[in-house]
Amino acid sequence: MPIKTVEFDHPTLAASGQCSIGQAWAKVPTEQSLAQQRQSSERIKALLRQRNAAIVAHYYVDGALQDLARETGGCVGDSLEMARFGSEHPATTLIVAGVRFMGETAKILSPEKTILMPDGDATCSLDLGCPAEEFSQFCDAHPDRTVVVYANTSAAVKARADWVVTSSVGQDIVAALHARGEKILWAPDRHLGSYIQQQTGADMLLWQGSCVVHDEFKADELQALADAHPEAAILVHPESPAAVTALADVVGSTTQLIAAVGKLPTSTFIVATDQGILHDMRQRYPGKTFLAAPTAGTGGTCKSCAFCPWMAMNSLQGVEQALLHNLGAIELDTELGRAARKPIERMLQFAAAHKQASQRVQASGELARDAALFQNFGPA
Ligand code: 13P
Ligand code: SF4
Repeated sequence: MPIKTVEFDHPTLAASGQCSIGQAWAKVPTEQSLAQQRQSSERIKALLRQRNAAIVAHYYVDGALQDLARETGGCVGDSLEMARFGSEHPATTLIVAGVRFMGETAKILSPEKTILMPDGDATCSLDLGCPAEEFSQFCDAHPDRTVVVYANTSAAVKARADWVVTSSVGQDIVAALHARGEKILWAPDRHLGSYIQQQTGADMLLWQGSCVVHDEFKADELQALADAHPEAAILVHPESPAAVTALADVVGSTTQLIAAVGKLPTSTFIVATDQGILHDMRQRYPGKTFLAAPTAGTGGTCKSCAFCPWMAMNSLQGVEQALLHNLGAIELDTELGRAARKPIERMLQFAAAHKQASQRVQASGELARDAALFQNFGPA
């Protein structure tokens, strides 16, 4: 399989905001014809049944793989939903179609299950740019701060954290910690960290990592596209730079961006995240138009061109090989897994309580609205 080189931000002095450039590699997937995809899918369905297995996929992976996950009773979701679904599903084997931190999170939450990945080498620039040892030194230098890490990190970095968060609950968790008077040490994504800092007013010291996909969205080009489509709503993932999120109508996790398409009356959307998400958006909302937000350039001039090189390593062939030969199996040291589990469970409990509270607020809002309607239109 051909290999491509991917450059990423490798923070050297996290607190002083300096970065050097690291070099990683990603395999370039070979395309399958539609007929080959259909045949692979049928073989995988049989293997999933034989092995009591389910596919847990992210929105950025290949569309055929997303479709197969749904069709076979698995899930397609953001990283929080993937973690929750995997830990609650009765399957004894999970195929995690995403990047390594997602497979590790599944193993941490379900150590008794077999966790396989279509390609165990699929990584993430945020994970690569936050090595556990340097991160631990950074934490040691700031013992007065609550350590909050993004899910896009290794198990060893999670094990050093007080809280793990994803983009869907990060802001709410930091707001709650800030309300308790806690100061935050945040890692690894500097853009998501700045966005949360700006939204919550929390005191946050930021690690200086970035995502190779979202870091490339450009505000000037996005503004020009928005000017050409004044009717469009702009959806932005918060791993994007501040100048890009400043132009957004909605900032949120992948699931939150998809939900926004359903909630807004708008029919055209400019989408600033990995273009893999458009598969789901187009399926759910076939009458709406989706435009890709501009990146640094095209072809050889952009690092990712809005497609995560590691998410792209997930293929149907990879799923089949994993099921046949236990390839891409995630193994973790038991003690490390136990230590990393605590801050993840804290997040899952917070997210569940927060969801219940929001539903109660929504329900009481609806009751108040119904009562008002009844007063206006009901019998005297
Ligand atoms: P979500 O949790 O929003 O799906 O984000 C994961 C990710 O890696 C985005 O680049
Ligand atoms: Fe990591 Fe960015 Fe790829 Fe998400 S899109 S997995 S943050 S490199």
